[in-house]
Amino acid sequence: MNVSFLELSRQYLAIKDEIDRAMASVFSRAWFILGKELEAFEQEFAAYLGARYGVGVGSGTEALHLALLACGVEAGDEVITVPNTAVPTISAISFANAIPRLVDIDPATFTIDVQQIEAAITPRTKVLLPVHLYGQTADLEPLLDVARRYNLCVVEDACQAHGATYGSHKAGTLGDAGCFSFYPSKNLGAYGDAGLVCTNKPEIAERLRLLRNYGQTRRYYHATKGFNSRLDELQAALLRVKLHYLENWNTHRRELAKRYNALLQGLPVTLPQEAAWGRHVFHLYVLRVPERDRLCSFLAERGIQTIIHYPVPVHLQEAYRDLNILPGALPEAEKAAREIVSLPFYPEIREDEIDLVAATIREFYR
Ligand SMILES: Cc1ncc(COP(=O)(O)O)c(C=O)c1O
Repeated sequence: MNVSFLELSRQYLAIKDEIDRAMASVFSRAWFILGKELEAFEQEFAAYLGARYGVGVGSGTEALHLALLACGVEAGDEVITVPNTAVPTISAISFANAIPRLVDIDPATFTIDVQQIEAAITPRTKVLLPVHLYGQTADLEPLLDVARRYNLCVVEDACQAHGATYGSHKAGTLGDAGCFSFYPSKNLGAYGDAGLVCTNKPEIAERLRLLRNYGQTRRYYHATKGFNSRLDELQAALLRVKLHYLENWNTHRRELAKRYNALLQGLPVTLPQEAAWGRHVFHLYVLRVPERDRLCSFLAERGIQTIIHYPVPVHLQEAYRDLNILPGALPEAEKAAREIVSLPFYPEIREDEIDLVAATIREFYR
């Protein structure tokens, strides 16, 4: 038996009738951009999060880019974030003509080491941008405290954390803006690109609505220089269907993670750790393994697919040489990049597949 990292078709087949009906109703209404499906989804997702506003945009990258602009980021401003993220987190900062300032991570949760933030603040710092990686949030309370003391905005990258919590708050709702990606493989995934920014601030929501739609206040009247970045009606309609399942899928992800944990207990690997501050929704199930590359080859030879999220920290990417951050400067992120491996994991994975992956890892260590 082979085990794929992800088989998205299983989810579609499980809810096919509902999805097909939702698609058909958009086709027959024939209204595809900025319509009633998006309006409804924005309200429903914001209500799910416990935020006042949701503004649908074209992708997670665009959510971050437009959120930074809506928070007033200008050319040359600095944004503090981490190097171990999907590169689009950093692209979004570049799109806003701002400068990423990278700080190292807490090795237990792979999220920003809040103790290191203050030392990275300069007079140009405008935003703190924590990344809620793999399905759990960064330690937000101390981060928000720094933001308050230095008068900085907080833009949360919640692209991997739909439904994760910090205390009783959902990821994305504690900062000035929370950014979500609905890339197909996410805990809540579209069938194409889509994203959303949530906020409790009416002025940020208003600015986002302008920025995503050419800066228009009404048709052909442009108050600001904007973009084309909209979550279309087809994606909104299917996201509305899937939103009903998100809590169940997240709960099941947690059960499957427990199963992996139990089966891998006692091996010389570090299991994912759930921080005391919140609820992990396991977008990914990530192990730390010193002999990671040998393990991945061993699993691949036996038909088990794994992925590394992410193999090269941003500051060591060719495209970001201009950050002038040398190897060794962010040691925890660099060490993590050498040791992490994401195992096959999604709500529809079968228990016998998890059992086989775990048994094959055990075999590797025998
Ligand atoms: C942490 C993180 N930030 C940003 C993004 C960008 O989202 P998108 O692919 O929807 O542009 C992603 C997803 O790829 C992500 O995982």
